[in-house]
Amino acid sequence: MKNINIGIIGVGVVGSATVLLLEQNKDIISARAGANLIVKKGVVRDMSKTDKNIKIPLSNDINDILEDDDIDVVVELMGGVDVAFEVAKKALSKKKAFVTANKAMLAYHRYDLQKIALDTPIGFEASVAGGIPIIKALRDGLSANHITSIRGILNGTCNYILTKMTNQDISFNECLKEAKELGYAESNPELDINGMDSAHKLLILASIAYGVNAMPQDILIEGISDINQDDIFFANEFGYTIKLLAIAKKIGNEVELRVHLAMINKDEMISKISGVMNGVSVIGDKVGETMYYGAGAGGNATASSVVSDLIEIARDSYSPMLGFKQPLESGLKIKPISKIESRYYIRINVLDKAGVLSKITSILGDNGISIKILLQKTSNNGIATLLLSTHKSNELSIQKAISNLCKLDIIHDKPYMIRIEE
Ligand code: HSE
Repeated sequence: MKNINIGIIGVGVVGSATVLLLEQNKDIISARAGANLIVKKGVVRDMSKTDKNIKIPLSNDINDILEDDDIDVVVELMGGVDVAFEVAKKALSKKKAFVTANKAMLAYHRYDLQKIALDTPIGFEASVAGGIPIIKALRDGLSANHITSIRGILNGTCNYILTKMTNQDISFNECLKEAKELGYAESNPELDINGMDSAHKLLILASIAYGVNAMPQDILIEGISDINQDDIFFANEFGYTIKLLAIAKKIGNEVELRVHLAMINKDEMISKISGVMNGVSVIGDKVGETMYYGAGAGGNATASSVVSDLIEIARDSYSPMLGFKQPLESGLKIKPISKIESRYYIRINVLDKAGVLSKITSILGDNGISIKILLQKTSNNGIATLLLSTHKSNELSIQKAISNLCKLDIIHDKPYMIRIEE
């Protein structure tokens, strides 16, 4: 049996789990790969912090892997964008296969890599939804379909926080602190809670589904940090669960790409994905809805995806990086944010006095926004909280209405809006 020599750059939680997985499941891995997968070297930033169970030779110089002609596959698990991209380019220029879990780097450079790679394989199953094989499902299993939509819960940290806030009435900051302690959050947790981590992953999926080359700055991205218990109360009252959703939807010759909090009907499968778990619903024009559920973070789950790429490479049976050999879905454009349509939930804190409601409804009416449900919560210190949902409207109208509401002297603080995804 042939040997495949592997160099791992970044032997932290996922890197260590990858080394241990290759050892512990060696028999089935070599049987499936038709090769021995051998980790020849690892590169770490700080040798003193390495897991003591990791028995591979270590160095702190990336070139010890990139310049080693015996290494067939470079596994990049260091994170970050610029240095990781340089590593990828150098590995590919030396015809080394490249495996990465780095969604941030791929969000900016996936098309660069596809162009440079030519026939050198690139694996990135671990970059989206950790242990869920969503890349292979979308790229290979569903390749006969036009993809109608993708709706994903792609960030375990946010889902953990939202689940805790919903089920246990715990504050946002307390939930975030727990998520950090449990090791779910990114080294910069701002990327989790501002929606950027989910957006990186969505852009990767959208390239496979539609061939579109969008960057984070091209799409609607909102985080979760402004949600409060009033929003959760409204959602519960009217049969919704609040999730941070990453959405790709094809309508006509446009594709909507967006990441934001969404109220989803409690009966939908995706609303049942709780805690740190991830879930993705993909609708194909022929297959209908398919659902994927599993651990989106953590050493073993992510290593499971990394090793699946290594096995595919060892078999010499890899797919084109983004799953297409010719331009896909030609003529498809990214829908401008202002044209995206939705129903909306709005929370408005107002002075509790006569005439306030009519001022609010007239601004909504002037922007063509029709109210479906309206609740007023008990006044507190002269401030009343209005919770309302609207019929279908669009981003341009809702943003104009919120900006006009902010100008009213009876408004206590900026109204907060969550989209209702139906
Ligand atoms: N910080 C990410 C999450 C880890 O919470 O899902 C996996 O990408």
